[in-house]
Amino acid sequence: MLWSKYFLPTLKEIPIGTEAVSHQLSLRAGLVHMLSAGVYCYLPLGLRVLKRVENIIREEMNNAGAHELFLTCLQPIDLWQRTGRDKTLAEVMIRFKDNKGKQMCLGPTHEEVITDLVRTYVQSYRQLPVTLYQIQSKFRDELRTRFGIVRACEFIMKDAYSFDVDKEGLNKNYQLMYQAYKNIFKRCGLNPIIVEADSGAMGGDLSHEFLITAPIGEDHVVQCSSCLDAQGLKEGFQEGSKCSKCGNGTLQKQVAIELGHIFQLGTKYSDSLEALYLDVDGKRKPIIMGCYGIGVSRMIAAIIEASHDQAGIIWPSQVAPFDVEILPLQANDPESMSLAQNYYQEFLKSGIEALMDDRDETAGRKFNDADLIGVPWKIIIGKRKLAEGLVELKSRKTQEVIVLRKEELVAKVRELLSKV
Ligand SMILES: Nc1ncnc2c1ncn2[C@@H]1O[C@H](COP(=O)(O)OP(=O)(O)OP(=O)(O)O)[C@@H](O)[C@H]1O
Ligand SMILES: [Mg+2]
Ligand SMILES: [Zn+2]
Repeated sequence: MLWSKYFLPTLKEIPIGTEAVSHQLSLRAGLVHMLSAGVYCYLPLGLRVLKRVENIIREEMNNAGAHELFLTCLQPIDLWQRTGRDKTLAEVMIRFKDNKGKQMCLGPTHEEVITDLVRTYVQSYRQLPVTLYQIQSKFRDELRTRFGIVRACEFIMKDAYSFDVDKEGLNKNYQLMYQAYKNIFKRCGLNPIIVEADSGAMGGDLSHEFLITAPIGEDHVVQCSSCLDAQGLKEGFQEGSKCSKCGNGTLQKQVAIELGHIFQLGTKYSDSLEALYLDVDGKRKPIIMGCYGIGVSRMIAAIIEASHDQAGIIWPSQVAPFDVEILPLQANDPESMSLAQNYYQEFLKSGIEALMDDRDETAGRKFNDADLIGVPWKIIIGKRKLAEGLVELKSRKTQEVIVLRKEELVAKVRELLSKV
């Protein structure tokens, strides 16, 4: 991508009314645009990150044996009346009447729609187990929207649903999802705290939350200072009490952001929506369900919270919008520009995603913008070094500079990226 032809509006100043670092940086680095409070558009750079996160999630879901589908945002209220969640979720639900006078809502989640869909097609134990997932927009009229895409009224979620004949099958699927979640977060450069949680409005039994500690967190966890073992915050918790796990450290309360939540639902939805199957013994039984959500757009904010410095974002390589940024510092120097062009073409050919800052801007501006948008590697082409046949490769994360002969650069980049 050539920056001069790209749509990448960066901001020098911190936008007014923003507190969260991730909110500030996602606006300043041209990832998102705020249309109104809690409503965000994704700009080309932000969409690149989103797609990379989505693809990691897809790979892990597919590996776990789940099948992708795509449900609807538009949902009739009568479906929600059958589970009673038109009432329990009334606060966040965005409701309206369509032109025929039918009560509708924009889906805040999809248990009702998927259960109704599965009941239509699944009749026999032979068709089970099955796990379905989607990556789609959810709509919730959130009251607190001050942290940007962390809590938006329209946001992107990956939601998966498992359907089993028995509890044993559910446990197996739950374990698969649990492991898939661990893989997803690791690949996105995050190291979440996993706590057994209260399943709240979702109903059902066992559930786990995946959280990362961050100053803007709205959830709480209790973590040991020594073994780092973490749990949900329970009533009667005493700050500084001894850790029962290692007997060594003390327990501290920390704020955290919830990134994912997995639930064993059991028959809550299959009972109320009559999603039944015919078992080997010829009896009709409710399908046993699990549901598994990840806030895909919230993940982007979480990654920024976990990985940034004074100058801007530091993308973990697997989710970075580009692999390398080529910085010819003097746009009016033909030799620099032609070398930059050569590199750019080489990368295009070998499937390496490169952004080239070919704008007629000062070197200072280019460096600032590069640090702000946080591409993992900068290829710095300066007139003076180039006269000696040298270019520089600089890591955004460690700031380490590798000086290379200009012919060696492409091979070095390939080598570094193949390690990812
Ligand atoms: N308003 C929102 N904006 C962005 N992501 C969200 C929002 N609400 C929920 N999520 C994400 O979707 C995931 C699954 O949704 P779920 O219904 O379990 O969330 P939740 O319990 O309502 O989350 P929270 O407690 O943060 O409101 C959450 O773990 C979170 O990452
Ligand atoms: Mg919520
Ligand atoms: Zn401990």
